[in-house]
Amino acid sequence: MTVVAEADAMSVKPLTPLIGSEVKLPRSALIEGTFAPQIRSLLRERGVLVFPKVDLSDDEMIAFANTIGPIFVEVGEGVMMMSLDKNDTQVSAYLRASQFWHIDNVSRGIPNFASMLSARALPDEGGETEFANMYAAWEGLPADQKASLEGLRVNHSFESFQRRAIPDPTSADLESWLRLPTGSVPLVWHHNTGRTSLVLGSSAYEIIGRDPAEGRLLLCRLTEFATQPQYVYRHTWSLGDLVVWDNTGTMHRARPFAEGATRRLGRLATVGEEELV
Ligand SMILES: [Fe+2]
Repeated sequence: MTVVAEADAMSVKPLTPLIGSEVKLPRSALIEGTFAPQIRSLLRERGVLVFPKVDLSDDEMIAFANTIGPIFVEVGEGVMMMSLDKNDTQVSAYLRASQFWHIDNVSRGIPNFASMLSARALPDEGGETEFANMYAAWEGLPADQKASLEGLRVNHSFESFQRRAIPDPTSADLESWLRLPTGSVPLVWHHNTGRTSLVLGSSAYEIIGRDPAEGRLLLCRLTEFATQPQYVYRHTWSLGDLVVWDNTGTMHRARPFAEGATRRLGRLATVGEEELV
C-alpha cells in the first residue's frame, strides 16, 4: 500500500509480502499524529511498521504513542529501557526471556494493542527483533486443521515464559514470577474487526482438556508453522529506528547477542482495546 505521493506525505513500502512495512514521513508529522489513523490501520494490515532512524527522545516517543492510543503503564511511568544490564533497568533479569516468541501481556487477557521499540544503543552483532504474523499463519492453515482448533483454550503464565530463559529458577525467582497474572485464553482469536489470528507464545503451557503432552506437542507444531520464514520479518536495527507492531496479531522475539554487549531499546505500549475471551 502506498499512501499519497505529495511532498510531506507518508510513503509506505512493504518489507516482505506478508509482514512488515517501512514508513517514511516527516518527523514532525509522526510526533504530532498527522497520519495516526492511517498508521493504526496499517499496523493491523501489515503487523509491523518500521520508521527508520527517526531517533525519538523519550518525550517524542510518548507524544507519538499517545497518537496511537492511551499508554499502558508498566514498570513505572514513561519509556521503559529494555536492556540486559542491571544498571539500565531493575527488570533486566526478566528481559532474557524476550528472546523467546511471545505476545506482550497475553496472560492478562487484554494484550497491548501497539507495542514499540526505539533503538538507543546496539551491539555490533545480533540483537535483531523478529515478528511473526499470526493472522497470516491462521490463514495459511488447512481448513480441516482450522476447524479442529476452534474453541480450544490455552493456559498462559509468566512462569512458563520465564522458564525458557531460566530453566532452573531459585525460589525467589519463582515467587516473583508467580505474582504475575495467569489466565486461559482462546487459541483462535476472532477479532472485532472480523479477522482471525492464532494466539501462541512461550507463555502458553497447556491446552485445557487435552492430554498434557499432546497439548504441548500441538502448541509446538503450531509455533513451528506460524514462524515459517514467509510469516516472519526480522528487523536488523540501526540506531534511532522506531519499530511499532500490532501486538494483537503478531508474536515477537529478540535474537541473542554477545554476553556483556550493550543493547538498549526504549519501550512503550498502548493499552489493549479488545479482550481476548
Ligand atoms: Fe515483548
